[in-house]
Parts: sequence; C-alpha cells; structure tokens
Amino acid sequence: MVKKKTCVFISGKGSNLKNLISRSREKNFPINISLVISNNKNAYGINYAKKFRIPYVIINTKNQNYENKVFLNLKKYKISFICLAGFMKIISSGLIKNYKRKIINIHPSLLPKFKGLNTFSRILKNKEIKAGCTVHYVNEKLDSGSTITQKSFFIEDNDNELDLKKKTQKLEYSAFPEAIIKIFRNI
Ligand code: GAR
Repeated sequence: MVKKKTCVFISGKGSNLKNLISRSREKNFPINISLVISNNKNAYGINYAKKFRIPYVIINTKNQNYENKVFLNLKKYKISFICLAGFMKIISSGLIKNYKRKIINIHPSLLPKFKGLNTFSRILKNKEIKAGCTVHYVNEKLDSGSTITQKSFFIEDNDNELDLKKKTQKLEYSAFPEAIIKIFRNI
C-alpha cells in the first residue's frame, strides 16, 4: 500500500497531530505525515514535527501572499491530502479548489451545531444533552462540509468547559484516524 503524502495544518497544542503521527506509523494506516504547516511560530505542536523529524514550515497567514507559500510547500513535498488539526484560520478558496475533497477538518462539536469558535461555552449555555466532535470535508463555508465521522458523549450535570474539552479531545483521538481510514477504504 502506498501511503498518501499528507500535510497537517496546526495553530497550537498539536495533540491531534501527535496522535496522527503515531497512527501513521502503523503499517496499514493509509497516510504518512510528510509535512506540518503552522501559522503560529509558537505552536507547541511544532515540537512533534521536530521530534519525529517531519519537515515543518511556519507560514504567517496574515501576509497577503501566504497562499503562494502554502502551494509551493505542498508541491515541494508532493502532498495529496490535508488534515486541519486545530488550524485556527479559514482556508482560502484557492486551496479548497485545488484540493477538492482532499482537505478534512476536526471540529469540537456535533456539527451542524456550534460552528465556529468558543464551542464549549456555547454548548453549556444552551444546556445541551450531548457534546462531541465531527470530522468533515472542508468546503467554502465554515464548518459546513459533509460529515465523515462524528462521536458523542452525554454531558454530566457538573461538567464545566474544561471537562467538555477533555472529553471531546479524547474522542477526537479515535475519530480523526477513523475518518481517514474510512475515506481511503472507500476509494
Ligand atoms: C481540537 O480540539 C480541535 O477540535 C479544535 O482545536 C483543537 C486543537 O487541539 N479545532 C477547532 O476548534 C477548529 N475550529 P490540538 O492542537 O491539541 O490538536
């Protein structure tokens, strides 16, 4: 099996990146993490790229020509699949057009509920019964592409934002790899 050369985009902690790196080292996992792009030079996740000797690039997405830099690097490393793992920037339409149904994102809510930021506080405020995560294809509308995998849990009475975050992230570590397996099993 030829593993798909994949780029993971991050902005912060990178715990999903770490998990995907470790899963991608399994013989039958369909992707190989060949590049990490961070739009934050202080993102902790860059340390995982360094530790596992994966090429990484820091790209300031506030610069007007940042998209060119992204394309050049994706080309240089022959990237054919992209995972957004805590990337806190809306992906440009040029990138979406060039990587149609080749970009997936993980979001910490049961989409279509709670698109966008501050999901956990909104979930609590809304007195939701369940929370969870969604892995979906990226299209031009925020957090709106079709769902690949969704995992949920029941919210307990005394759960605060941090509890929801921890429980959600725990589910993310199985949801993201499962979504990737599902995509490539169907091709
Ligand atoms: C994840 O929980 C992910 O769902 C969320 O950021 C976190 C990144 O954690 N993504 C979004 O909120 C995207 N809108 P990580 O850096 O430890 O993987």
